[in-house]
Amino acid sequence: MKIAADVYNIGVSDCTIDLFEGIYQVPDGMLYNSYVIMDEKITVFDTVDENFGKDWMENLEKVLEEKEPTYLIVQHMEPDHSANIHFFMERYKNAKVVASEKAFVMMGQYFGENYSERRIVVGDGDTLDIGTRSLQFISAVMIHWPEVIVTYDPKEKMLFSADGFGKFGTSVSEDNWVDEGRRYYIGIVGKYGNSVQSFLEKIVKLDVEIICPLHGPVLKEMPGKYLYLYDVWSRYEPEEKGVLIAYTSVYGNTKHAVMELLDELKKKGIENVVVRDLSRCDQAEAVADAFRYSHLILATTTYNLEIFPAMRQFLDYLIERNFRNRTVGFVENGSWMPVATKLMQEKLSKCKNLVFAEQTVRILSAMNEENKKQIKGLVKELFREEEN
Ligand code: FEO
Repeated sequence: MKIAADVYNIGVSDCTIDLFEGIYQVPDGMLYNSYVIMDEKITVFDTVDENFGKDWMENLEKVLEEKEPTYLIVQHMEPDHSANIHFFMERYKNAKVVASEKAFVMMGQYFGENYSERRIVVGDGDTLDIGTRSLQFISAVMIHWPEVIVTYDPKEKMLFSADGFGKFGTSVSEDNWVDEGRRYYIGIVGKYGNSVQSFLEKIVKLDVEIICPLHGPVLKEMPGKYLYLYDVWSRYEPEEKGVLIAYTSVYGNTKHAVMELLDELKKKGIENVVVRDLSRCDQAEAVADAFRYSHLILATTTYNLEIFPAMRQFLDYLIERNFRNRTVGFVENGSWMPVATKLMQEKLSKCKNLVFAEQTVRILSAMNEENKKQIKGLVKELFREEEN
């Protein structure tokens, strides 16, 4: 696919993958992008997943039209992009690999080969002259591994952004980038907000018109919007006012309380509410929702004197990603020793700047009139300003 006069995407589409990185559900598959600039010195950016080496090489050869590439720039060493480095280097014996020092260490670890005779080590601020353009390298530590460099082409105002600004799915349309871009970002890079902030400080100084990530569509329509969202997400600020109700329910009684809560929120005029059953939903989606909205309400049971497992897992995912700057409400259920709220609050005390609602809801087996009052009280406390 041609992106600009002499720039091509030679990536592949993976419709067979079930779990990305062995954890993220990807019902719409994944794209592994790889790019070629047909300048005087032909330059290839990254390879693709191991299973698609042959398809990728065919795409490359079509673009090359029997010419030889000079450089393979390896921006990221995770195997979904690096698995075919050796294949490339064997085929193009005069080509050189361009990567960061850390990336060459990883090549040694993965392949037992670090191309000591055929390598160019680059770091933040270095450039590479490939003919009519001088490519600029920018260190992108922890986006999403420590060895990552990204590349700016000032001629086309293109940023080759490695994993940054990618998304799940095989769609090449930008229309639905935000939801899957969010789930991807929070899942993969969410932990490293400070690193993303440092990265953005460098990127905003460039004149970027086109973003070329290693997953998802090439982004041409609104580069400013994508940079804005990365800024919001990496500062851990809510994207919008709204509520995620994340719950588990064993026999339906906690779910009953969640439905009551939903009704109360609606009565209060709070319509921007998402409800997720953590035992059945894609938890990565629920985690992304928690980062999207200003308020989180957790409803669960005590189980083996612990937090119900699916909720425990969810909280671990949030904590691992440095969840912060939100208001959190709690609903618990227990027939003989409810301790879930206390344990959830203890667990979340590791997170910075969370405000816990004082009004909690404690159900003893099944919801009663007192619980309905508690639910009203919780909604009133969380959305006091709606009364004005
Ligand atoms: Fe798409 Fe971090 O690999």
